[in-house]
Amino acid sequence: MDWGMKNRLARIIRPKTGRTLMFAVDHGYFMGPTSGLENLDETVEPLLPYADSLMLTRGALRYYVTAETDVPIILRVSGGTSILNKQILHEGITVSMEEAIRLNVSAVAFSIMVGADYERDTLLGFAKVVDQAERYGIPALAVTAVGKDIDRDAKYLSLASRIAAEMGARIVKTYFCQEFEKVVRSCPVPIVIAGGKKIPEKDALQMAYNAVQSGASGVDMGRNIFQADAPVAMVQAVRSIVQEDATANTAFEMYNDLK
Ligand code: R5P
Repeated sequence: MDWGMKNRLARIIRPKTGRTLMFAVDHGYFMGPTSGLENLDETVEPLLPYADSLMLTRGALRYYVTAETDVPIILRVSGGTSILNKQILHEGITVSMEEAIRLNVSAVAFSIMVGADYERDTLLGFAKVVDQAERYGIPALAVTAVGKDIDRDAKYLSLASRIAAEMGARIVKTYFCQEFEKVVRSCPVPIVIAGGKKIPEKDALQMAYNAVQSGASGVDMGRNIFQADAPVAMVQAVRSIVQEDATANTAFEMYNDLK
């Protein structure tokens, strides 16, 4: 692995712990003004000190984040369909690697849709992104998007995650599930879990705890942080689990104290 690739990965996944808290605010690329992100800058600014990286689109980066901000950026480079489209997440490449370099990002993120009618398009699109990203030492993160009619179980998520890694992903983002250790064991690159739809804070903390205890390298969490009753308290509670091995109960107590 060349120096640039190693350095970018080390900026995202803390070498001391081997873990990362990615804060995801890229939802607007297919969901529009997602609840909690209407004024993205106001939401993000107080949470940034507790995030190891920030995942978002180039538009959000330009409009809502100042260039002086010292946080590694994971740039969403896939898109093309919205929540109004039946083929939601039939995504292609939306950003060139030159633009990613210009924006000085630490990684690029692309959604693949294993098991969908259009899986081939998304896998070949991801392969192109990997080729271009590797040329410049930029890690490509694969997001294993899951269609409504597919079970998010260990069998499916292992399949999707392993395919992503074999296609060249340096990090895989997937969902937590029962027997998550199996997903981790069969994937040769670090795995982070998405938070998914907003659930009670205690449950989200338990999920984060279960994920890291099952071998996840951290979380790429959005709604369960920025839609929490107290987002700044929530990000610190999640961080205590990811970076300090706090239990879910301790983290929830921390959340309530800070709240
Ligand atoms: C979806 O593919 C987006 O990349 C989101 O950033 C991702 O799902 C993580 O956000 P959340 O925790 O809200 O699911």
